[in-house]
Amino acid sequence: MPIAFSTTTASPERVDADLLAVPVYAERELGPGADVVDEALEGELDSFMEDADFSGKVGQTLRVPVTGDIAADSVLLVGVGNADDVTPHTLRRAAAAVARKARKAATLATTLAVAGDDGTTDARAVAEGLVLGSYQFLDYKGDGEPSTLADVVSVGAGGKRVLKALEQGGATAAATCWARDMVNEPAGTLGPKEFVAAAKKLLTGSGVRVTVLEEAQIRKQKLGGLLGVNAGSDEPPRFLKVTYSPKNARGSLALVGKGVTFDSGGLSLKPAKAMEQMKTDMGGAAAVVGAMSALRDAGVRAKVVAYVPLTENMPNGSATRPGDVLTIRNGKTVEVLNTDAEGRLILADALSMAVEDGPDAIVDLATLTGACLVALGEKIAGLMGNNDDVVEQLEAAAERAGEPVWHLPLPDDYRSMLDSEIADLQNIGGQWGGSLTAGLFLEEFVDDVPWAHLDIAGPARANKDDGELVRGGTGFGVRTLVEFASSFRRPARQA
Ligand code: BES
Ligand code: ZN
Ligand code: ZN
Repeated sequence: MPIAFSTTTASPERVDADLLAVPVYAERELGPGADVVDEALEGELDSFMEDADFSGKVGQTLRVPVTGDIAADSVLLVGVGNADDVTPHTLRRAAAAVARKARKAATLATTLAVAGDDGTTDARAVAEGLVLGSYQFLDYKGDGEPSTLADVVSVGAGGKRVLKALEQGGATAAATCWARDMVNEPAGTLGPKEFVAAAKKLLTGSGVRVTVLEEAQIRKQKLGGLLGVNAGSDEPPRFLKVTYSPKNARGSLALVGKGVTFDSGGLSLKPAKAMEQMKTDMGGAAAVVGAMSALRDAGVRAKVVAYVPLTENMPNGSATRPGDVLTIRNGKTVEVLNTDAEGRLILADALSMAVEDGPDAIVDLATLTGACLVALGEKIAGLMGNNDDVVEQLEAAAERAGEPVWHLPLPDDYRSMLDSEIADLQNIGGQWGGSLTAGLFLEEFVDDVPWAHLDIAGPARANKDDGELVRGGTGFGVRTLVEFASSFRRPARQA
């Protein structure tokens, strides 16, 4: 259910709502609004918290039975940690915890957005946390109980700027939830065709232009990587292009997202365990399209064009064989030694297309390598690139968005691992450093355009509820991309 935000400067005990959520700092130090709860309990709040082992750790919650003096039907305490260390990130986590406890409420009043000292940034993070924490994917659950939370009143700070921040946070989070839906939908019901239909539906009315290439046009455009990966599938490929072009645009940006709707590995078939989660392999595409839907409302001034290749990777009788050679859009030839290294083949076409349009910078997102999970685990994305300025801009945007990334190198010295016996390149490197050789492969297709690559193989899904994350698809990258596009400045070219 979409959540509507409003603000009030009324005193918390006077705000009518199903639930009032107030912050408590570490060691049970009362946050804004908790004092009125204490008064209603005649000064007994501290011993109540102590008896319940509630200390105020980030995301801890405790219901308080209050009658009488408070207009809300019930009260929830939420921990926000050390009073000196409250950040947008802790507030986002705390807000998500509140959202999980507010599923049966229709209206929520909360003073969370005034628990820190970061004003509108805090308000935005709280809105994100509330929307992301109330996310559910119930389409296939017989006994699912959808959240009824529909209205949130932020108590304590009024004004247009706070309201705008809440709405922006809510909008970016809604785009993230769309990306989660795409990842969570089974691959049997979400192939390239269905992805395009869902993208069109999402993007209607968000101020962007959508064009779709079908198989015949993909052939005409010589997208040999996409066709090669698609060769083993009964479902035809698609190539989605989305253009956001504000008046008097300042700078131009290309976004590329890996859209493998299911990765069986192809003839280099994956083992059963490794295949279980491979509906996730369009997580990059989903994040890019989700971000495109939020650009206008975020006030992005740069031109942004998204390039999204979509296909399954399947092993039928016409599948690409190990040893076959494909010709990518830009004319480079690739010997496919392992059909499971398919993401880089479709990205090669998409990056080539992006380069032809002459953007100031390119950013791609892809669930690209298992090696990135080995290197950085499930929560951190690998960041690589050919230009320090774009890499730093993306790193800073991710930090502000609260999505962890780690900069990895693209060593010149490793490039020779991609040397093929018969073609310009082969699609796999050696036994080690798989994320880096994948990055080096992509670099072959961006010419000298400033470019950064996020390998999101780990964080595209979560295996448990955790802060603003809900088990399943995470929509990782949407917030970072919106933040990056909002503050984008033309990078300095680099030798
Ligand atoms: N989609 C996978 C990468 C992946 C693995 C994403 C686990 C999320 C979780 C990718 O297409 C792939 O299969 N990569 C291979 C490359 C190898 C054959 C060089 C890999 O990582 O094993
Ligand atoms: Zn693969
Ligand atoms: Zn893949």
